[in-house]
Amino acid sequence: MNFRELASKYKTPLYIYDLDYMTKQYEELKEAFKGRKSLLAYAIKSNSNLSVINHFAQMGSGADCVSIGEVRRAFLAGVPSYKIIFSGVGKSDEEIREAIEKEILYINVESEAELGRVELIAKELGANCRISIRVNPNIDPLTHPYISTGLHDNKFGVDIDSAKRMYIRANNSEHLDPVGIHFHIGSQLTELKPIYESAEIVADMVRSLQSIKIELKFFDIGGGLGVTYKDEVTIKPYDYAQAVLGTLKGLDLTIICEPGRFLTANAGYFLTKVLYEKKNGAKRFVVVDGAMNDLLRPSLYKAYHKIEAITESKSELSEADVVGPVCESGDFFAKDYMLPTLEHNDLLVVHSAGAYGFGMGSNYNTRGRSAEVAVKGGESRVIRKREEFEDLIALEKDYLVK
Ligand code: LLP
Repeated sequence: MNFRELASKYKTPLYIYDLDYMTKQYEELKEAFKGRKSLLAYAIKSNSNLSVINHFAQMGSGADCVSIGEVRRAFLAGVPSYKIIFSGVGKSDEEIREAIEKEILYINVESEAELGRVELIAKELGANCRISIRVNPNIDPLTHPYISTGLHDNKFGVDIDSAKRMYIRANNSEHLDPVGIHFHIGSQLTELKPIYESAEIVADMVRSLQSIKIELKFFDIGGGLGVTYKDEVTIKPYDYAQAVLGTLKGLDLTIICEPGRFLTANAGYFLTKVLYEKKNGAKRFVVVDGAMNDLLRPSLYKAYHKIEAITESKSELSEADVVGPVCESGDFFAKDYMLPTLEHNDLLVVHSAGAYGFGMGSNYNTRGRSAEVAVKGGESRVIRKREEFEDLIALEKDYLVK
């Protein structure tokens, strides 16, 4: 990747995605599940650029969506309706209605109250809505608490007993068709055991439903596969698939997997330019043109992202905080990071920025979002143009109070 060339062609701050790397990740995961009916439903939230979704769709991927906006993106990007899943704890009536009308693969239901709404809306529409229920297996995923979702302390899914009641109710309804079961215990998982234990609990639930003549078709294991940001030892897709498949003996189910980060994180780079170096007493800061509004993960989770300096500087390395222009002390990409002395216009490449990067961005401090560029077979092209000031005020300027 020639970052210097990309920076001069597209300016900074800039997101760059290596689509060939995404292909490789997709194929490795798909291959791990071969021999079983399986569908990878790309978790759009990790990187929702239409060209990225379309890239996966062309390889046969489905889409895991958490808002009707994401469902619409999936359709626009060419994902067929029968490969689209709609999850999330708080779907509005309008969202449920549109998902039913669009005849997606299924709605992942996350509470008894929501099941009631889905049934009512399906009835109004004279439809029979395919649903899956998100089970919360109460297993600690051993990851960052903010991205842990599989404990009863977390807002996601329903406990086993409630799930059973909900399946019985759905099975008896003319307007609900229970076709799947779902769990997702957390993100950036690096331990296999919690996944295996959850899959066992959920597979047992499938068996107990079979015994009361409720036959499911889809076993949705969510996403969560971790990646290496620094030195994490990650789960191999093959071992992941084997662990899950091991719990499904005697069951004829299509496996659905909802990977996000695994496909996109290490395909992405955030490119930012050095504005200044400064010191406050002994403390060294490198001020760059990108900020927390572009890439929030370090500020929000203290997440580590490797930083590579592209510079002529041959100076000794010393510790510096890499900070952006936003008016918050929490606006940083790294703290006490070893870097050479940097000059105005040197470049810093923030690695592993392809997942939960651009999508978690904002316009805080009236900063336009950066452009996004895709690189494929050595060719680069813009897949989202840089936001300009006019874009930021477009929805306000006609409402100015006079
Ligand atoms: N399926 C469901 C139901 C999910 O909630 C998620 C992620 C995924 C799939 C995809 O998980 P992945 O394969 O990417 O781990 N913003 C955080 C991550 C939040 C993940 C939320 N759910 C971060 O920057 O680390």
